[in-house]
Amino acid sequence: MAEAARSIRPLVAGNWKMNGLKAQLAEAMAVRDALAAGPADPGTDVMICPPVTLLAAMAELAAGSKLQVGAEDCHWEMSGAFTGDISAEMLKDAGARAVIVGHSERRGGHGERDCIVQRKAKAAHRAGLTAIVCVGETLGERRAGLALEVVGRQLAGSLPDGARAADTIVAYEPVWAIGTGVTPTSGEVGEVHGAIRRALSQRFGAEGEAMRILYGGSVKPANAAEIFAINDVDGALVGGASLKATDFLAIVAAYAH
Ligand code: PGA
Repeated sequence: MAEAARSIRPLVAGNWKMNGLKAQLAEAMAVRDALAAGPADPGTDVMICPPVTLLAAMAELAAGSKLQVGAEDCHWEMSGAFTGDISAEMLKDAGARAVIVGHSERRGGHGERDCIVQRKAKAAHRAGLTAIVCVGETLGERRAGLALEVVGRQLAGSLPDGARAADTIVAYEPVWAIGTGVTPTSGEVGEVHGAIRRALSQRFGAEGEAMRILYGGSVKPANAAEIFAINDVDGALVGGASLKATDFLAIVAAYAH
C-alpha cells in the first residue's frame, strides 16, 4: 500500500470558500509566480478553487502556468431554470479543471445528502471536470465511534460508478477539524485514509488504488509535513491557510522535503 501511495502524484488544493474580492487575485498571482520561479517540478500539483466570481479571471491569469484552477460546487443539471445555480459545464467553460462536491459546508448548510453529491460528481465527469468528493464525520459521530462507518457510507453513496483516478479525488475532512485549528492525530488520519483506500480498491480496482485521497481540516504550514508523511495521504484540501500565498506556498513546499 505504501508503495502504491508513493507513486501517486499529490495535490495541494486551496478552497477559498466565500472569501475574496478581485484584489485577492494578487495572492493567486503570487502563487503562480512562485511556482514559476521554483523548481521545475514542485513535487505536487497545485490548485486554487476560488469563489465562482473570480473563476474566469483566475483561470486567465493561471493559463499556461503550474497553477491549476478549480471550483467549489456545481449543480447536477447541465442548464435550465435553476436560479442562482452554476452547472459543471459553465465551470469548465470559465476555465475550471476540477470542482469540489459534497463539502461539509454544503452537506450541513444546504442539506446535500449523498445522492445529491453523487449527482454532482456525475455532472463533473459529464463536463470533463475532476470531482473532488468530500467526506468526513462530525465530532459527535467520532466520539460515538462511528467515524469509519459514516465515512464509508458517504463514500459509497457519493462516488458514482465508473469513477477513475484521473477524474475523481476523495477529500477526507473531519467536520470538527475544519476551521477550528484542531487536527486529528496522525493515527486517526491514517486509520481513515487506510479504510478509504481499501474501499476504493474494492469498488474500483486499480483505479481505486490510484485515486488521490486528500486530507482537509486545519492544514497549516506548521503541520503540513507531518500530515503528508501519513500513509495514503496524497495531498491536502486547504481552507483558511490557502488565502495567503505565503502560507499556501509553505504547505506546498512541505511536499518538496
Ligand atoms: P480549513 O478548511 O483548512 O480552514 O480548516 C478546510 C476545508 O474546509 O476545505
